[in-house]
This record gives sequence, C-alpha cells and structure tokens, in this order.
Amino acid sequence: MIEKIEQLMQEISALHAKNAQEAEALRIKYLSKKGEISQLMNDFRSVPAELKKEVGMKINQLKSLAQEKINALKEGAGEGSATGSSSIDLTRTPYPITLGSRHPLTIVKNEIVDIFSRLGFTLAEGPEVEDDWHVYSSLNFADDHPARDMQDTFFVEAHPDIILRSHTSSVQSRVMEKTQPPIRILCPGRVYRNEAVSARAHCFFHQIEGLYVDKNVSFTDLKQVLLLFAQELFGPDTKIRLRPSYFPFTEPSAEMDVSCTICGGKGCSMCKGSGWLEILGCGMVDPAVLDANGIDSSIYTGYAFGMGIERITNLKYQVKDLRMFSENDVRFLDEFTSAR
Ligand code: DAH
Repeated sequence: MIEKIEQLMQEISALHAKNAQEAEALRIKYLSKKGEISQLMNDFRSVPAELKKEVGMKINQLKSLAQEKINALKEGAGEGSATGSSSIDLTRTPYPITLGSRHPLTIVKNEIVDIFSRLGFTLAEGPEVEDDWHVYSSLNFADDHPARDMQDTFFVEAHPDIILRSHTSSVQSRVMEKTQPPIRILCPGRVYRNEAVSARAHCFFHQIEGLYVDKNVSFTDLKQVLLLFAQELFGPDTKIRLRPSYFPFTEPSAEMDVSCTICGGKGCSMCKGSGWLEILGCGMVDPAVLDANGIDSSIYTGYAFGMGIERITNLKYQVKDLRMFSENDVRFLDEFTSAR
C-alpha cells in the first residue's frame, strides 16, 4: 500500500494541465468521492493495526499534495489562458532578494550631520588635495610644527606646497576666507596621513569638522552644543567631560570624553577601566586664525570641533579592525542592512 501511495505522489507531482477543464478532470480522477485517493481510504480499513499510523500519515500527505497541485494547476490554467503561456510555475519559491546597505561610515556620518542640521549647521566641502596654506599656515601652525613633518603628511613630490589634507580643519579656512559671519558649518570628509596600515591606524580615514563664528560666541555655547550632540548620538544618560588640550588653531583647546557607551561609566575593557571614552577635539577659534582668514577678531569669536568618524563608528558598532571599513567585504557590509 505504501508503495502505491508513493507511486501516486510521484504521478501527481508530475501532472500537467493545459487548461481549466483538464485540471478539473484531474481533480475528479484523484480527489472526487470515487477518485483514486478515496479508493485508498477505503483500502485503509484492511491495513494491519501496527501499520495504520504510518500509512495514515502517508495518505494525508498524499491528499494535501494532490489538493495543492490541482489548485495550482487550476490557477496556472487560468493564467495561461489569459496570457497565452501556461509554462510559468507560479508555485515556485522566488529567489531571496538581497537588500543593499549603506556603508557603516555613511550611516554614522548621516546621523551626526542630522543632529547638527537641527541646530542650524549647514554642510561645507573642501578639496582633499590641498595646499599648505589651508591645511596648516592659515590655521596658525608654525613653520616647524611637527604635524607638517613628512611622517604625517603626504606631499606631492614635484610641488611640496601641494599636500593631501591631514584634517578637515582646512575647510574652516576655505569657508572663512570667502564668507563673513555668522558662519555655522559642518564639514565631513576624507583625510590622509602617512601611517602604516594596521588594525588601529590607516593612511586615510574620515573626519567631521564643525565651526561656528558670530558675535558673542562663548565656550559655554560650545559645551552645551557638544553635550546635546553626545546625548543625541549615544543616548540621554550620556555625560561629557572636557579636558584641557592643545591645538594650534584653538585657544583655549579641549578634548571631549563621553561616559563609556558600554559600561556607562563604571569601568570596563572598552574604556580601559576609566569610565570615559575620548571622542573629539574642540576649542575657541584662535583670534590669529580669524584674522588670517579675513575675519575681524575684535568683533567676532567662534568655536570649532573635529572628530573621527571611524572612531565614533567603532564605539557604536564595535568594529575591531579599521581595515574592514575599506575592504568592501560584503559579509561585513551585510551586517548593516537593518541600520540606517
Ligand atoms: N583637526 C584636529 C585633528 O585632526 C581635530 C580638531 C581639534 C578639530 C580641535 C577642531 C578642533 O576643529 O577645534 O586632530
């Protein structure tokens, strides 16, 4: 009997119908009261008790297979007569659709830009191949400042004045030289440094620079905007701390830490037990920088800040190796399909 059922299963799986009548004829052949399957049900009575369970299950499988197949044939026949083609198998499982994803750095950049747009910052851009003036001199770097050193900066061999920008602060200078305050800009972009590529360093990475210049801009404004930024990015319980630091283009200068995004400040391996993570540099624009870029420092003051996008992305997504950001391995990129 089991053999008979299996034979019917194969037979039914392979059925074809050119039109609705043929499909109906098949339904009668297999599924009607006098059809082959009902016949089997009758024979079921004579199946020995110890086989009843197995045979019963098989018959049920056969019955639902037949029902599905014949329904499909009927639908297919309908389609076929409408379109003139009955060979399309509408019951076949479709190929899974692979969704594209944004690059994690783009996701985080967009998030940062979004937060500052709500505060009135607009986007500004500058060239990646820059001159020494916009990257260093106009930003108050002394001629012998170590950041200009060959070890950090990529120079163009024939033109030592032409370099790959090593920070997005160059865009500050680009904007100030052609705009009078109020200036409130955000500048995302790629930067280059002459570093050996490893898990923790790369010869190119991404930064976002912020600049606000107007009358009466104070350090308090800077601190408040950065606190709001940190809480929008990492959650409302995030705390910030500003540590005195030095940058040639800001005075005073500070580095900002946020309370650890993993342990919330208790101390863990991510924050090396300190409870704090450094995320950006900032300060009041040095009056010498305003003047060098054509803005009267006796009227205007400003603040600036700059951060690495890879650094922030690592804090949000715990990417362990910087190289993954530029390898374009789809297995890595696929992990961000549900992020925005
Ligand atoms: N340009 C700095 C760097 O590459 C980051 C930075 C620090 C930017 C302080 C700023 C700032 O605008 O005020 O490390």
